[in-house]
Amino acid sequence: MFQMQVPADESAVARLFERGEAAIPGGVCSSTRRNKAWDSPVYAQRAAGSRFWDVAGREFLDFSMSHGATLLGHAPECLRHVFDTAWEHGVLCSMDTPFHVDLAEQLCRVVPCAERVRFTGSGSEATLHALRLCRAASGRDKIIRFFGHFHGYHEFTYIGGHPPADQLDAQPPYRESAGIPESMAELIIPVEYNNLEALEAVVAAHAGEAGTLLVEPVDYNCGCITPAPGFLEATRALADEHDLVLFFDEVQSFAKASPGGAQQDFGVTPDICTIGKSLGGGLPLSAIGGRADLMDLYAPTGPVAHSGTFNAPLPSILGGLAFVDHIQRPGFWKTIGGLGEVLFAGLEDIAGRSRLPVVFQHHGSRFGIIFGTRDPVTNYSQALVHDPETMLEFCRQTTSRGVYFHDYGGGPCHHGYSLAHSLEDIDQALQAIDDSLQAMG
Ligand SMILES: Cc1ncc(COP(=O)(O)O)c(C=O)c1O
Repeated sequence: MFQMQVPADESAVARLFERGEAAIPGGVCSSTRRNKAWDSPVYAQRAAGSRFWDVAGREFLDFSMSHGATLLGHAPECLRHVFDTAWEHGVLCSMDTPFHVDLAEQLCRVVPCAERVRFTGSGSEATLHALRLCRAASGRDKIIRFFGHFHGYHEFTYIGGHPPADQLDAQPPYRESAGIPESMAELIIPVEYNNLEALEAVVAAHAGEAGTLLVEPVDYNCGCITPAPGFLEATRALADEHDLVLFFDEVQSFAKASPGGAQQDFGVTPDICTIGKSLGGGLPLSAIGGRADLMDLYAPTGPVAHSGTFNAPLPSILGGLAFVDHIQRPGFWKTIGGLGEVLFAGLEDIAGRSRLPVVFQHHGSRFGIIFGTRDPVTNYSQALVHDPETMLEFCRQTTSRGVYFHDYGGGPCHHGYSLAHSLEDIDQALQAIDDSLQAMG
């Protein structure tokens, strides 16, 4: 009934962009979809497995995978049954079902800190509602967070995450969007990741006024920085000592290397966490999980409001059940791990031979690319050596070879593969990366 009108060639993409810009700011529904490397949006026509095709008919091997949301691949077979089942049940809006309870129970078994779960749509929504809970529980408004970490686009935390080099010491901390009130920035205390001395000093200096310690345990949003040995344990100890709510934002790190996320991978249990991205199997679903005494602060058992017409729509919950079923199969992690072994060994070899200094960092199915250094990057200040223009050129080179990396405006971010990628796909990507770096060097 609704046929997508397919422009036949690249000039037709330009015409679509022109129409898009006239009706949608920037021609895109999410700011970073305006691909800076191409200076145009990627208008997709179709996706399946590890690949997508744009409206000009070009085929791409996908190494963005919806920023990590389609870990099962594009259009996995299990979603066909999800849509059928949702339809049979009347699709349903604004009502809980036995499926909601099933998924919540399963997540409480799989995610170490989760004794209760509340669902949200986006990860930004999850972190917003989780932070409100943290503030209510601690009775303190200030939040200690880390440079280089990302927690969504809202006023609570789009502050002090990725400041320009000359704004690292800004007081109040750097606001990452126009329109965020200065008064919100006064509630944020950013500190360098993996620097225990700096963290201890900040926690001591703000004792009694900071109530939450917010961590992206694997910092995928700064080129995939993993926690230094003992660092997450130290966040746990400091939170206990200073009565802070320890909040792991696992919107990205959930189910990347194991079913339980970074808290399982590194053996440190926070008080509260958010999970998202791939949780819905490609459908919009995120969740807040945590200790029962904290989670029960949500209304109607407690005083913290969290409600919404579109909370936890049935198709997303069914997608969640399909996803959680997959990640509990032993073969799932064997496949994900096996692909990673080949990919990451290949990337290390390429980095060693590359004339351009580059480092590839990884955890689970996702990895970062940082240009300008050959050394491991362990915090945001070190990642500032990364050159965005080199990254944009890299994206142009690989896409011209049929392998898609999302450009994130040139920043050091994260890329990844899915269950649907084959070893041949990994080989194709390695060849394209190698050839691209050679052409650039
Ligand atoms: C760690 C983390 N938190 C929160 C978010 C926001 O999630 P969403 O894009 O679903 O709003 C993201 C998205 O990239 C993320 O990586």
